[in-house]
Amino acid sequence: MNSEKIKQDKLIIFDTTLRDGEQSPGASMTRDEKVHIARALERMKVDIIEAGFPVASEGDFEAVKAVAETVKDSTVCALSRAMAGDISRAGEALKKANSSRIHTFIATSPIHMEKKLRMQPDAVLKQAVDSVKLARQFTDNIEFSPEDAGRSELDFLCRIIEAVIDAGATTINIPDTVGYNLPNQFGSLIKNLLERIPNSDKAIFSVHCHNDLGLAVANSLSAVQNGARQVECTINGLGERAGNASLEEIVMAVRTRQDLFNCDTTLDATQIMSCSKLVSSVTGFPVQPNKAIVGANAFAHESGIHQDGILKNRETYEIMRAEDVGWNENQIVLGKHSGRNALKTRLNELGMELDSEEELNAAFTRFKALADKKHEIFDEDLQALMADSSWSAENELFKLVSLKVCSETGEIPKAEVVVQVNGAEISASESGSGPVDAAFKAIEKIAHSETELKLYSVNNITSGTDSQGEVSVRLSKAEKMVNGQGADTDIVIASAKAYINALNRIMVSDACRPHPQMGDV
Ligand code: KIV
Ligand code: ZN
Repeated sequence: MNSEKIKQDKLIIFDTTLRDGEQSPGASMTRDEKVHIARALERMKVDIIEAGFPVASEGDFEAVKAVAETVKDSTVCALSRAMAGDISRAGEALKKANSSRIHTFIATSPIHMEKKLRMQPDAVLKQAVDSVKLARQFTDNIEFSPEDAGRSELDFLCRIIEAVIDAGATTINIPDTVGYNLPNQFGSLIKNLLERIPNSDKAIFSVHCHNDLGLAVANSLSAVQNGARQVECTINGLGERAGNASLEEIVMAVRTRQDLFNCDTTLDATQIMSCSKLVSSVTGFPVQPNKAIVGANAFAHESGIHQDGILKNRETYEIMRAEDVGWNENQIVLGKHSGRNALKTRLNELGMELDSEEELNAAFTRFKALADKKHEIFDEDLQALMADSSWSAENELFKLVSLKVCSETGEIPKAEVVVQVNGAEISASESGSGPVDAAFKAIEKIAHSETELKLYSVNNITSGTDSQGEVSVRLSKAEKMVNGQGADTDIVIASAKAYINALNRIMVSDACRPHPQMGDV
């Protein structure tokens, strides 16, 4: 029997930020970014980290391999379609993992089998069983997903699940792939499967819900109340289309309403905020202010009545403590006179490890430059500073050297920019409808990237007019789409940094790699 099965009261957290989360348009991550996020997930004590889809591209294979070689405490999982080539590639990528899992899937709904796979149900069942048996040659920790289970026929689901458990699957994941189910319906599906499948006690039942109707978390929680003991989720609810169930909401709902759940996770919830910020800055997907748990307003009490109540007794209006999910008051942690050691210590406290003396030196130089402009440095500033430097110099084709903008009432804004391209400095000037527009046009004059700007957004990192602005830029070109970020106290400079960051990413991105759930790779 699977060892995880013994702990009936444990709810396993399977994070798929690095796989399904990465399937969000523009959210593709480099190997180093995946390793960085995987470390943060491990620190948060996520049980299983789905690191990617190795057969999709050389880049994703290398990323999964690097995560498998780095992570020690969490199980590292790789996705594969129910195909021999996918499975052996996943097995190869996971070879050096301390603990590994292969997640193999095939669609089981009538519409997917008929229109996408063009296969009869019996052939689908045989391919699923053969795949699980093959995957067992690489690891004994096998997860099987009947894709689009939420729209599959119950009898066929029972048949295929029974067969794959017999073949050696240890986790059965029930995906609501298109986010179609309602909570009571999805909960009943899990209950029915557990009751009707004769060998259901030989596997952990898991759920994987999409948020197309805004019900991913509700559906997952209903499934847990009906016997599911693993939830697949992502940080900030990132994921395909409207996203997946959000990890932070699942974990805190189960923890806050222990009166209604007979299981709990072992996650260190105090790491939630730093993981959320890290994923947001790596992917360029900002967190909406009113997002539960991690949104800027999640614990802010604006109205007088609420504030009065909170001051008298915080439980009048608060069901969770902000500090339990890693919120801390904006504290001035460092300043202009802080030294290298203070920076290193605070970064370590925030869970950001520096691998070498060179990395520390680079971070310290950036820190000093920031402290010269902005005397009070908050944790959020340090997080942005590190996100900014996570893009390694060897990936930089373009580098911003200087930017001068002229913006005046009644005049057309102008920008003069100097960019280093492969080591050589090139300058250009342009005018635009605003200073950011002018700066982007001037940079494009140098880069000739022919990319299309899909998104531009600015967020302030802390409060106050001296706060750093964090800019996200999404660019697309042919099949590729990437996000870039930049932070600075000057938002035009932050914008130029973000634009250049996106240009550098689009040059190395393999974002056009095939989608796991669409046709052949
Ligand atoms: O949504 C889905 O069905 C998936 C599967 C690969 C589990 O992501
Ligand atoms: Zn999915």
